[in-house]
Amino acid sequence: MTEILYLIAAVCFILALQKLSSAETSRAGNLCGIFGMAFACLAVYMSIDVSEIWFILTAVAIGGSIGIFIAKKVSMTALPQMVAGFHSLVGLAAVLIAFSACFAPALFNISGENGIFTSSLIEMGLGSAIGAITFTGSFVAFLKLQGTYKSNYIPLSVNTCIAASIVALLVYFICTESVPAFIILTVLSLIFGATLIVPIGGADMPVIVSMLNSYSGWAASGIGFTLQNDLLIITGALVGASGAILSYIMCKGMNRSLPDVIFTAGTPASAAKSSSEAKPFKQGAAEDAAFILKNASSVIIVPGYGMAISQAQHALKELGDILKKNGTTVRYAIHPVAGRMPGHMNVLLAEANVPYEDVFELDEINRDFATCDVAYVVGANDVTNPAAKNDPSSPIYGMPILEVEKARTVLFLKRSMGTGYAGIDNELFYEQNTMMLLGDAKKMTEAIIKAM
Ligand code: TAP
Repeated sequence: MTEILYLIAAVCFILALQKLSSAETSRAGNLCGIFGMAFACLAVYMSIDVSEIWFILTAVAIGGSIGIFIAKKVSMTALPQMVAGFHSLVGLAAVLIAFSACFAPALFNISGENGIFTSSLIEMGLGSAIGAITFTGSFVAFLKLQGTYKSNYIPLSVNTCIAASIVALLVYFICTESVPAFIILTVLSLIFGATLIVPIGGADMPVIVSMLNSYSGWAASGIGFTLQNDLLIITGALVGASGAILSYIMCKGMNRSLPDVIFTAGTPASAAKSSSEAKPFKQGAAEDAAFILKNASSVIIVPGYGMAISQAQHALKELGDILKKNGTTVRYAIHPVAGRMPGHMNVLLAEANVPYEDVFELDEINRDFATCDVAYVVGANDVTNPAAKNDPSSPIYGMPILEVEKARTVLFLKRSMGTGYAGIDNELFYEQNTMMLLGDAKKMTEAIIKAM
């Protein structure tokens, strides 16, 4: 019965992942995940002594309450650090289980006459090492995303030495079953998790969080073998693989590679040069923008990180509704790495009840900029920068961009002529068909609504 319930739960988790990949089906995906978790819990309750259920229910009540409290309290812009914090706990759980198994192997059915089985030693060693790296790595990522800790330089040679020692200890532990080696291995992995993440630039953290997510999945999968729990093996593999794919997609969207993100200390902004010479540009007021928008028959809204900062999504939806009433076609164009985490813009637009059918991905909408009257760029910068196409020396060269420059008029909402994440100037600000609307995106959009 337990095995059947685990199988149903695993199928639910796979369906959840599949449905979460599209905005329309994501709610159903969430439900599948909830059902999967319910079946998994049911299987656990059925397989243990009734007298022990109270311990588990109490733990579920405490953990569930904390989860509900955090989920209700956390703001949309703080989601990346919340995810990092949760991953850190997954890593810690993997370490604790590996320790339990190491100290009481008989309870876990992983030992015979000749001591602990070799396969279990491999699983425990790997599970504990990866779990420890995930724990401290995610914790440092959390601190960085929260803004309480900045990057520090750590020479690559230091990390290489620690990594080599971990591998050597792992081999020694598997060959000798030495408990001190296991403990030192875990302590070194805890240190390695921190020293690996400390030098990485704060803005690269989303990729790192997704990579650590992947690690936590593999750690859970390894521990699943130790616990002989099929569901943990499957779920861990799903998390591990999806985290790895997500990291790859993010890197591809930024035209960077994962080793480049991990081994290049500091953000690309620190390496990039922005032009210091003042160039002429056209600045407009809310009234000018209102006039242009009133006369437009098609408008494409391009949200970016600045929309998340200013929380302009509700004002944008209101502006979109007014324009639609005016007979204007309104669409939203989302770049795969707009904002600071995958789906960042989609989540915010969904929060403001922007209809899914108005939201388009880069490939679906890019050629329509040439025929649209206004590209309304809200706190986006790098994802529209033509340097990605024209300047081979640019750090974003090769990144696909939203071709807003092809629109008849480009309205740029941002607070200054400053740069974005990549730290580079955007030639578009100085083009003839561009009007800069300098100010907070939410306040400026509200002013435009008022003017309309
Ligand atoms: P950015 O290029 O970072 O530009 C955001 C712009 O928003 C800034 O130029 C800033 O200009 C403006 N801004 C900030 N606060 C604002 C406010 N309150 N009101 C109005 N504007 C405001 O953002 P993007 O175009 O979305 O590009 C994303 C970048 O992040 C890409 O380079 C991408 O590679 C990188 N990245 C993305 C991800 C994922 S998965 N999405 C992960 C890691 C890195 P002012 O300061 O002048 O206002």
